[in-house]
Amino acid sequence: MQPKKKEIVLSRKQIEQKVKEIATQITRDYAGKTPILIGILKGAFIFLADLTRNIELPLKVDFVRLASYGEKDYSTGQIKLIKDIEFSIKGQDVIVVEDIVDSGYTLAFLLKHLAKMKPASLKVCALIDKPERREVEVKLDYVGFQVSGFLVGYGLDYSEQYRCLPDVYRLIF
Ligand code: PRP
Repeated sequence: MQPKKKEIVLSRKQIEQKVKEIATQITRDYAGKTPILIGILKGAFIFLADLTRNIELPLKVDFVRLASYGEKDYSTGQIKLIKDIEFSIKGQDVIVVEDIVDSGYTLAFLLKHLAKMKPASLKVCALIDKPERREVEVKLDYVGFQVSGFLVGYGLDYSEQYRCLPDVYRLIF
Protein backbone atom coordinates (compact mmCIF):
# COMPACT_ATOMS: atom_id res chain seq x y z
CA MET A 1 0.00 0.00 0.00
CA GLN A 2 1.37 3.39 -0.97
CA PRO A 3 0.93 6.34 1.40
CA LYS A 4 -1.22 9.25 0.14
CA LYS A 5 1.20 11.77 1.63
CA LYS A 6 3.74 12.36 4.35
CA GLU A 7 3.77 15.19 6.88
CA ILE A 8 6.83 16.33 8.79
CA VAL A 9 6.66 15.68 12.54
CA LEU A 10 10.28 16.19 13.66
CA SER A 11 12.60 18.52 11.80
CA ARG A 12 16.32 17.86 11.50
CA LYS A 13 16.88 20.91 13.74
CA GLN A 14 14.63 19.52 16.48
CA ILE A 15 16.36 16.16 16.24
CA GLU A 16 19.82 17.71 16.30
CA GLN A 17 18.91 19.71 19.42
CA LYS A 18 17.46 16.66 21.17
CA VAL A 19 20.45 14.47 20.30
CA LYS A 20 22.72 17.08 21.86
CA GLU A 21 20.58 17.21 25.03
CA ILE A 22 20.61 13.42 25.43
CA ALA A 23 24.34 13.25 24.67
CA THR A 24 25.03 15.89 27.33
CA GLN A 25 23.01 13.92 29.86
CA ILE A 26 24.84 10.67 29.02
CA THR A 27 28.21 12.45 29.19
CA ARG A 28 27.31 13.59 32.73
CA ASP A 29 25.82 10.28 33.87
CA TYR A 30 28.77 8.19 32.65
CA ALA A 31 31.62 10.53 33.59
CA GLY A 32 34.81 8.53 34.12
CA LYS A 33 33.36 5.45 32.38
CA THR A 34 33.59 3.94 28.91
CA PRO A 35 30.05 2.88 28.05
CA ILE A 36 29.26 0.43 25.27
CA LEU A 37 26.50 1.65 22.97
CA ILE A 38 24.60 -1.15 21.30
CA GLY A 39 22.52 -0.08 18.30
CA ILE A 40 19.59 -2.14 17.05
CA LEU A 41 19.83 -2.51 13.29
CA LYS A 42 18.74 -1.25 11.07
CA GLY A 43 16.60 1.63 12.29
CA ALA A 44 18.99 2.99 14.93
CA PHE A 45 22.00 3.45 12.68
CA ILE A 46 21.62 7.20 12.11
CA PHE A 47 20.60 8.05 15.68
CA LEU A 48 23.52 6.01 17.03
CA ALA A 49 25.95 7.71 14.66
CA ASP A 50 24.80 11.19 15.71
CA LEU A 51 24.66 10.31 19.39
CA THR A 52 28.17 8.88 19.51
CA ARG A 53 29.60 12.01 17.91
CA ASN A 54 28.01 14.20 20.59
CA ILE A 55 28.89 12.19 23.71
CA GLU A 56 32.13 13.50 25.14
CA LEU A 57 33.43 10.23 26.53
CA PRO A 58 35.46 7.31 25.23
CA LEU A 59 32.89 4.88 23.81
CA LYS A 60 32.64 1.42 22.37
CA VAL A 61 30.03 0.61 19.74
CA ASP A 62 28.38 -2.63 18.73
CA PHE A 63 25.20 -3.69 16.93
CA VAL A 64 22.52 -6.33 17.09
CA ARG A 65 19.94 -7.22 14.51
CA LEU A 66 16.56 -8.55 15.56
CA ALA A 67 13.56 -9.57 13.51
CA SER A 68 9.96 -9.98 14.57
CA TYR A 69 7.65 -12.44 12.94
CA GLY A 70 4.20 -11.42 11.73
CA GLU A 71 2.74 -8.63 9.70
CA LYS A 72 4.86 -5.63 8.83
CA ASP A 73 2.93 -3.03 10.80
CA TYR A 74 2.61 -4.76 14.14
CA SER A 75 4.69 -7.07 16.26
CA THR A 76 3.57 -10.53 17.33
CA GLY A 77 6.05 -10.61 20.15
CA GLN A 78 8.04 -13.41 18.56
CA ILE A 79 11.53 -12.01 18.19
CA LYS A 80 14.54 -13.69 16.63
CA LEU A 81 18.17 -12.68 17.09
CA ILE A 82 19.76 -12.42 13.64
CA LYS A 83 23.07 -10.87 14.69
CA ASP A 84 24.48 -10.79 18.21
CA ILE A 85 27.05 -8.43 19.76
CA GLU A 86 30.65 -9.22 18.99
CA PHE A 87 32.50 -8.59 22.25
CA SER A 88 31.99 -9.28 25.92
CA ILE A 89 29.85 -6.85 27.94
CA LYS A 90 30.43 -8.61 31.26
CA GLY A 91 31.05 -5.97 33.92
CA GLN A 92 30.63 -3.15 31.36
CA ASP A 93 28.19 -0.23 31.25
CA VAL A 94 25.80 -0.80 28.36
CA ILE A 95 23.38 1.60 26.70
CA VAL A 96 21.01 0.10 24.14
CA VAL A 97 20.21 2.61 21.40
CA GLU A 98 16.85 2.27 19.68
CA ASP A 99 15.18 4.50 17.10
CA ILE A 100 11.59 3.77 18.13
CA VAL A 101 9.81 1.78 20.81
CA ASP A 102 6.40 0.53 19.79
CA SER A 103 5.01 -2.67 21.35
CA GLY A 104 8.22 -3.03 23.37
CA TYR A 105 8.74 -6.66 22.34
CA THR A 106 12.05 -6.01 20.56
CA LEU A 107 13.58 -4.21 23.55
CA ALA A 108 12.18 -6.62 26.13
CA PHE A 109 13.74 -9.53 24.24
CA LEU A 110 17.09 -7.79 23.85
CA LEU A 111 17.31 -6.59 27.45
CA LYS A 112 16.65 -10.11 28.71
CA HIS A 113 19.31 -11.45 26.33
CA LEU A 114 21.92 -8.84 27.35
CA ALA A 115 21.18 -9.12 31.08
CA LYS A 116 22.30 -12.77 30.93
CA MET A 117 25.76 -11.52 29.97
CA LYS A 118 26.05 -9.73 33.33
CA PRO A 119 26.84 -6.12 32.35
CA ALA A 120 27.61 -3.73 35.23
CA SER A 121 24.65 -1.62 34.11
CA LEU A 122 22.10 -1.78 31.31
CA LYS A 123 20.14 1.25 30.16
CA VAL A 124 18.05 2.23 27.16
CA CYS A 125 18.15 5.32 24.99
CA ALA A 126 15.32 5.70 22.47
CA LEU A 127 14.79 8.59 20.08
CA ILE A 128 11.02 8.08 19.79
CA ASP A 129 8.58 6.47 22.18
CA LYS A 130 5.03 5.44 21.36
CA PRO A 131 3.76 4.62 24.87
CA GLU A 132 0.16 4.15 23.71
CA ARG A 133 1.28 1.15 21.62
CA ARG A 134 3.05 -0.67 24.44
CA GLU A 135 2.19 -4.33 24.98
CA VAL A 136 5.06 -5.26 27.23
CA GLU A 137 6.59 -3.01 29.86
CA VAL A 138 10.11 -1.73 29.20
CA LYS A 139 11.97 0.95 31.11
CA LEU A 140 13.38 3.72 28.93
CA ASP A 141 16.14 5.75 30.55
CA TYR A 142 16.65 8.40 27.85
CA VAL A 143 13.80 9.36 25.51
CA GLY A 144 13.84 11.97 22.78
CA PHE A 145 10.22 12.41 21.70
CA GLN A 146 6.76 10.90 22.01
CA VAL A 147 5.16 10.81 18.56
CA SER A 148 2.30 8.67 17.24
CA GLY A 149 1.50 7.36 13.78
CA PHE A 150 3.48 5.50 11.13
CA LEU A 151 6.83 7.29 11.12
CA VAL A 152 9.65 7.27 8.58
CA GLY A 153 12.97 9.04 8.10
CA TYR A 154 16.12 9.42 10.23
CA GLY A 155 16.62 5.63 10.09
CA LEU A 156 12.95 4.61 10.13
CA ASP A 157 11.59 2.88 7.06
CA TYR A 158 8.44 1.77 5.32
CA SER A 159 9.32 -1.30 3.24
CA GLU A 160 12.96 -0.11 3.21
CA GLN A 161 12.00 3.30 1.81
CA TYR A 162 12.57 6.71 3.44
CA ARG A 163 15.30 5.61 5.91
CA CYS A 164 17.78 8.22 4.77
CA LEU A 165 15.56 11.30 5.01
CA PRO A 166 17.07 13.77 7.51
CA ASP A 167 13.69 14.64 9.10
CA VAL A 168 10.98 12.38 10.56
CA TYR A 169 7.63 12.20 8.76
CA ARG A 170 4.23 10.62 9.48
CA LEU A 171 2.84 8.65 6.57
CA ILE A 172 -0.83 9.18 5.75
CA PHE A 173 -2.51 6.24 4.04
C1 PRP B 1 11.51 -1.33 14.36
C2 PRP B 1 12.29 -0.40 15.25
C3 PRP B 1 12.45 -1.17 16.52
C4 PRP B 1 11.22 -2.06 16.56
C5 PRP B 1 10.27 -1.51 17.56
O1 PRP B 1 12.40 -2.20 13.75
O2 PRP B 1 13.53 -0.06 14.68
O3 PRP B 1 13.62 -1.97 16.54
O4 PRP B 1 10.64 -2.04 15.25
O5 PRP B 1 9.07 -2.25 17.57
P1 PRP B 1 8.52 -3.00 18.84
O6 PRP B 1 8.67 -2.09 20.02
O7 PRP B 1 7.07 -3.23 18.46
O8 PRP B 1 9.25 -4.29 19.01
P2 PRP B 1 12.01 -3.12 12.49
O9 PRP B 1 11.61 -4.49 12.99
O10 PRP B 1 11.01 -2.39 11.65
O11 PRP B 1 13.39 -3.29 11.74
P3 PRP B 1 14.37 -2.17 11.15
O12 PRP B 1 14.93 -1.42 12.35
O13 PRP B 1 15.40 -2.95 10.43
O14 PRP B 1 13.58 -1.25 10.26
